[in-house]
Amino acid sequence: MSVLSVGLGQRSYQITIEHGCFERLAGILAADYPASRYCIVADDTVARLYGRRLLQMLREQGLAGDLLSFVHGEANKNLTTVAALASGAARLGLDRKSMILALGGGVSGDIAGFLASCYMRGIPFIQIPTTLLAQVDSSVGGKTGVDIPEGKNLFGAFYQPLAVYIDPLVLGSLPQVQYLNGMAEVIKHGIIRDENYFNFLRDEFKAIMALEPATLTQLIYVSCRIKAEVVAADEQESSVRRILNFGHTIGHSVEAASSFSILHGFAVSIGMVAAARIALMRSLLEQEQLDAMLSLLRQYQLPAEIPSELDRSLIKSYLLTDKKRISGKTSYVLPKRVGEVVITDQVSREEIEAVLNYH
Ligand SMILES: NC(=O)c1ccc[n+]([C@@H]2O[C@H](COP(=O)([O-])OP(=O)(O)OC[C@H]3O[C@@H](n4cnc5c(N)ncnc54)[C@H](O)[C@@H]3O)[C@@H](O)[C@H]2O)c1
Ligand SMILES: [Zn+2]
Repeated sequence: MSVLSVGLGQRSYQITIEHGCFERLAGILAADYPASRYCIVADDTVARLYGRRLLQMLREQGLAGDLLSFVHGEANKNLTTVAALASGAARLGLDRKSMILALGGGVSGDIAGFLASCYMRGIPFIQIPTTLLAQVDSSVGGKTGVDIPEGKNLFGAFYQPLAVYIDPLVLGSLPQVQYLNGMAEVIKHGIIRDENYFNFLRDEFKAIMALEPATLTQLIYVSCRIKAEVVAADEQESSVRRILNFGHTIGHSVEAASSFSILHGFAVSIGMVAAARIALMRSLLEQEQLDAMLSLLRQYQLPAEIPSELDRSLIKSYLLTDKKRISGKTSYVLPKRVGEVVITDQVSREEIEAVLNYH
């Protein structure tokens, strides 16, 4: 078992990573997180795989439990779903002493966290992430929210959970493509902050792909530690937290230009390579460092190139409307070497053209 503290002053909380902790959750809740009712929020897939089981365990423990679900998929991460869940919560009689259990991937975590932040002006919630992406990324940092027609994640709140419980065992049912999707963010953590971790990902490839318990626990721990350190230093994303956007500026534009047919992590992988190529052209990064990044991404079957059929001008137009722009400038995170990045808003059109047209 590994326990990590996220230091956010009075709202500090712990992330527990433990093989098999899912089966112990009802006992943990009863002992450490008393509440009048526990409401599990999960998408339909996760509700079937794990939600019903958790509900059964809550009831066996003598706790009042409910399960609210919604149809899986990013398309349902919207205000309509939140409104339906809020009505469901009210009908079940959830009050200020109740607790929401956000069970599932990043979509469930973002929706359930946002619901918890607004329901009765805020009730406590616990994150129980079940995708690799949610375990290493979305469940850490306190960003919650939903998409609106004008853009992804445009409507939400910073709201920290009471605790995060991560059971690597639940990844056993995750489709491989979703696992690799999460690996892109894991590799990002190595490149932005930790060369040893990057080398660990390269050397432990077999164990990581085989979901070997000790290796996977270590991987999730280090990724959560890196994200938690960065977030604790800058909760509201004004400065250092922006390094987590490595690969995301061009990545988001590629994702949007593909009408979201390219999964987020795969788009981020393409974005990381593009940012690294800009760094190489500036002699900020050495060729052998870029080669090491390319080789690790390829090892995990993650793409390096923008698919040839994608419209370059569309990608450029998305880059110009990037929501993370500050005062009209798009900021880029560029690697100096594996383990260190810099942030700049001084990337020229020529540099963008060069990487978009790279082949
Ligand atoms: N809040 C943040 O800081 C933050 C950070 C990164 C991403 N996100 C958000 O996270 C979302 C993406 O998260 P995601 O990739 O986890 O997507 P997701 O929640 O849609 O999960 C992917 C799919 O896997 C299924 N699934 C989940 N756990 C499973 C399991 N153990 N076994 C089998 N199937 C399982 C789900 O039903 C879903 O169909 C996006 O909406 C993104 O905006 C948020
Ligand atoms: Zn991401």
